[in-house]
Formats: sequence, structure tokens, C-alpha cells
Amino acid sequence: MQKEKRDVKQHLFICGNIKEQGECCGAKNSPQLVAELKKKLKENKLYQEIKVSRSSCLGPCSQGISAVHFPSNELFTHIKADDVDELYELLVNRMALNVDSEDS
Ligand code: FES
Repeated sequence: MQKEKRDVKQHLFICGNIKEQGECCGAKNSPQLVAELKKKLKENKLYQEIKVSRSSCLGPCSQGISAVHFPSNELFTHIKADDVDELYELLVNRMALNVDSEDS
């Protein structure tokens, strides 16, 4: 194993799980949300500090799209596939304020 120091300040994992039965984030276009949010961060040269990744199931499958944010360890639910701008603003505002969560 090797390790290296990175400049990542925040990481948002958005569920992209697709189930054969039952509700799932992937069926609510979460992979498109991940791609569009990544694109916006890259266009604004923020992708070295704010990462967005597609995750597997986070648990609340019937509550819209789910995501977990680090380092705050907050779980977001009821996200919609077109919430790209809202999520982008949330991440950038936290970066500007240098806070881990909205509660800080
Ligand atoms: S499928 Fe996304 S939280 Fe379970």
C-alpha cells in the first residue's frame, strides 16, 4: 500500500445505485447529477479541492436521491437530479466559509 497527501477539502458521495426492484437513486437520474456536478466543479477549477463521486446504496432508498458529505458526515436526502446548482452552491459556500457543515 502507498499513500499520498491530497488537497481535497470536501467529498460528496452521491448514491448511484440501481436496483432491479424497489426505489433507488440510480433510477432518479443520480448518475447524471454526479456527472453535471463534476463538470461544473471542473469548469470552475474546484475539482482538486471538492470531489464528487458516485457511491453505492447509502440506505434511504425511498427518499429521493441520497448523498453523504465529508468531512461533515451529513446525510442529504430528497435531492433531485436537477439540484446541480444547489449542491454546487452548498459546497462552494462551505469552502468559502471554511466550515464543515451548515451547523458550524
Ligand atoms: S439506492 Fe440510493 S440510498 Fe439506496
